[in-house]
Amino acid sequence: MDWGMKNRMTRLIKPKTMRAVWLAIDHGYFLGPVSKLEEPATTIKDLVEFTDALMLTRGVLRNCISADLDVPVILRVSGGNSIAGPALSNEGIQTSMEDAMRLNASAVAISIYVGTEHEHQTLMALGQLVNEGQRCGMPVLAVTAVGKELEKRDARYLSLSCRIASELGAQVVKTYYCEGFEKVVRSCPVPLVIAGGPKLNTELDALKLAHTAIKEGAKGVDMGRNIWQSRNAVGVIKAIRKIVHDGASVKEAENILKAARPHK
Ligand code: 5RP
Repeated sequence: MDWGMKNRMTRLIKPKTMRAVWLAIDHGYFLGPVSKLEEPATTIKDLVEFTDALMLTRGVLRNCISADLDVPVILRVSGGNSIAGPALSNEGIQTSMEDAMRLNASAVAISIYVGTEHEHQTLMALGQLVNEGQRCGMPVLAVTAVGKELEKRDARYLSLSCRIASELGAQVVKTYYCEGFEKVVRSCPVPLVIAGGPKLNTELDALKLAHTAIKEGAKGVDMGRNIWQSRNAVGVIKAIRKIVHDGASVKEAENILKAARPHK
């Protein structure tokens, strides 16, 4: 691995623990103004200090984020679909590598849709992005997207998607936690981080999700809604940090969550 690529990876996955807590706020690229993400700058204001990287689009970065941001950026470069359109899988690359470099990104992110009518185009786009990333020293994060079909999140499907993403050259893969997650980890030769998915019933459920995923081999989380849609978002991210970087138990993490609970 060349120095630039290595340096970027080191900024994303902390060498001390070889783990990562990333905050995802890229949802608007196909979902529009998601609840609690209407004003991204407000959403992240108190959370940035607890994250190892911020995942977002160039539009939000340029328009909503101060240039003195002291956290690496994972730039979502795929899009072209929307929740109102006919097929969420119909994505392509819409932000150039040149723009990613200009924005000082530490990685670029792209979704792949294995098993859909747009499988080929999203996998070819991943290959193209990896080729450009190799030229520029830019890591590629592949996101194994499932669109509206959340029931697809099982070990068989996610193993297939994660392995394909790594075979095509992604340096990191973002997927979902599932039953049998160890199988997904074992068969994917690059680091895996997990998304949180739609908001779970309680914050404790989010902590349990992070804890189990880390125990079963995830290198970290790249979570959004389960952090910033919580009324105790700072508590959730602090507790997740403790799990990911310090190996805290769910109980220890829950104590952090409770201690940070905002006063009514
Ligand atoms: C959308 C994404 C999101 O960043 C991802 O799903 C993480 O957010 P959440 O934890 O809210 O699921 O990649 O395709």
